[in-house]
Amino acid sequence: MRAELLQGLLATPAFTSPKYLYDALGSKLFEAITELPEYYPSRTEAAIFEAHATAMAALLPAGATLVDLGAGNCEKAARLFPIFRPQRYVAVDISVEFLRKSLGSLQAQFPALAMLGVGMDFSSSLTLPPQAGTGPRVLFYPGSSIGNFTPDQALTFLRQARAACNGGGLLIGVDLVKPAEVLQPAYDDELGVTAAFNRNLLPHLNQLAGTDFRLSDWQHVAFFNTGKSRIEMHLQALQALRVCWPGGERRFAKGERIHTENSYKWRQADFAALLKTAGFTHIPAWTDERGWFAVFWAQA
Ligand SMILES: C[S@@+](CC[C@H](N)C(=O)[O-])C[C@H]1O[C@@H](n2cnc3c(N)ncnc32)[C@H](O)[C@@H]1O
Repeated sequence: MRAELLQGLLATPAFTSPKYLYDALGSKLFEAITELPEYYPSRTEAAIFEAHATAMAALLPAGATLVDLGAGNCEKAARLFPIFRPQRYVAVDISVEFLRKSLGSLQAQFPALAMLGVGMDFSSSLTLPPQAGTGPRVLFYPGSSIGNFTPDQALTFLRQARAACNGGGLLIGVDLVKPAEVLQPAYDDELGVTAAFNRNLLPHLNQLAGTDFRLSDWQHVAFFNTGKSRIEMHLQALQALRVCWPGGERRFAKGERIHTENSYKWRQADFAALLKTAGFTHIPAWTDERGWFAVFWAQA
């Protein structure tokens, strides 16, 4: 992790993977983001599940293991337990302490359902431990987290996901292209919660890589890059400064940025085509009335 982080910090422009936004506080801040009036994705996706979960359930293999990728507070999957009736629930997340707490209270709520928490980084490999079961799996990847990957990375990830399904399938939420006036505030809210989420990366980096970032030196920047169809989040230096760590340093000019997250927005037909290229078949999708968000079932 440290080597990966420092390589990104030394690059021009500097970058870090969005997975580092999630320490225990980052996970709580993301939870708060989903409550914001500007953050339409969670509400829109929840409404799609509310309207169509029964139709989705009819397509899922019976007695499958539900594998929640980037489970966070596990709430989205938990709402579906009574309809999907999984045989087992496997929650996967890089933010281990937050996952441990979420899963602990969920197990108390659903004592009869076998549950397993897996702390891992699935960006390079999706190989699950044997305790995750050998039968068909429904991989659940909501929240448009797939948008954190470039289209090429997304294809690689989807191919790995297909292999990890054991003949089941993938239920995936994808944010769709829409006007920048809607997109941008969702990543730059008036209250400043997304700014806090982004800036919280810095103390996390200090802890992971021994850097000496000062919060007061950096501001949150988010905008829609129309050409690349993605929201970009950056941290921008408020003055010329130097960041040091054991064995190295990086100078930043005033206004220079660290690119901390991409959130790609897809056209529905393009994402369906990507799922097909990754080897999935039978790909029904459900959307909201405004066509802002889509949930796809992709059979492995
Ligand atoms: C955008 S949040 C989504 C949380 C929840 N699934 C939802 O839809 O509201 C992304 C989640 O994925 C986790 N995550 C991000 N990158 C990850 C990675 N490379 N490996 C494992 N988990 C990751 C984060 O810790 C976080 O809980």
